[in-house]
Amino acid sequence: MQTHMWREILIPYEQAVKELVIKFESIARENKRLGKYSPIEYVTGRVKKISSILEKAKKKEIVLSKIEDEIEDIAGIRIICQFVEDIDRVVELIRARGDMQIKYEKDYIQNTKQSGYRSYHLIVYYCVHTALGEKKVQAEIQIRTLAMNFWATIEHSLLYKYGHNIPSSIRKRLVKSAEAAHMLDQEMSKIRGEIMDAQDSFQYKSNIIADILNNIQNIKNASEHSLEAEQIQEEFYRLWEDGNIEKLVAFNKRLDIIAENHKAQSLQ
Ligand code: GTP
Ligand code: MG
Repeated sequence: MQTHMWREILIPYEQAVKELVIKFESIARENKRLGKYSPIEYVTGRVKKISSILEKAKKKEIVLSKIEDEIEDIAGIRIICQFVEDIDRVVELIRARGDMQIKYEKDYIQNTKQSGYRSYHLIVYYCVHTALGEKKVQAEIQIRTLAMNFWATIEHSLLYKYGHNIPSSIRKRLVKSAEAAHMLDQEMSKIRGEIMDAQDSFQYKSNIIADILNNIQNIKNASEHSLEAEQIQEEFYRLWEDGNIEKLVAFNKRLDIIAENHKAQSLQ
């Protein structure tokens, strides 16, 4: 097959990866914006290189006409979570969605691979609309914690370095370090509640500050002589330096009322 043909084949996969990354990123952003804990820390995606697709087809004896059916990870998405518990929440989110149909799931967390690899995999069907028409493509979604990702990334680069013949001494150490990563995840789960509380209050505070700044801007825009706005700004700096969240909340309530009054006046 010629290179330009491959480019055409890969277009819907590129589209799918872009859309899926954006969709999972918005779940994270929306949660954070609402001051809620997000089960998704970050998302990455890639389209498999033509050379890797051909290598995999050769290794698995897949004929060219079957490549798109049988190579399920041409589109690949990776969702990284802070805690093991988050992985189930993300899986539930995916199961509940109408725009992704699950082909099957593989739980390498309950069933850790011999290598030490741990992650939750889903193969999904996803429909894209491109200039070439509508197409249902497959995508592999890998969900893992930061610790699982750390291990898999390093193990992958060693596989690459040793061309899949990792010396047994290094293999053993990799298995041990996989156990260490697993223990780290378990340890983090135990203090999860406390970590989440700290992150929640941080998010809450930064949302309040964003609201305050927004209110100040509106008041500035609305008032002719900006003395009031300046005084408010100075008060905000004092409260901000002080860092007391309750005082900031009370201050923001006052600003809400002032901003409402301005709005009412401008409508008269
Ligand atoms: P391939 O492994 O992709 O040839 O197909 P498969 O049908 O065996 O799927 P599997 O679920 O085993 O693996 C899919 C993907 O998971 C791989 O392409 C890797 O990205 C990842 N993966 C699976 N096993 C390992 C592992 O031992 N180490 C690392 N680093 N990644 C792994
Ligand atoms: Mg494999």
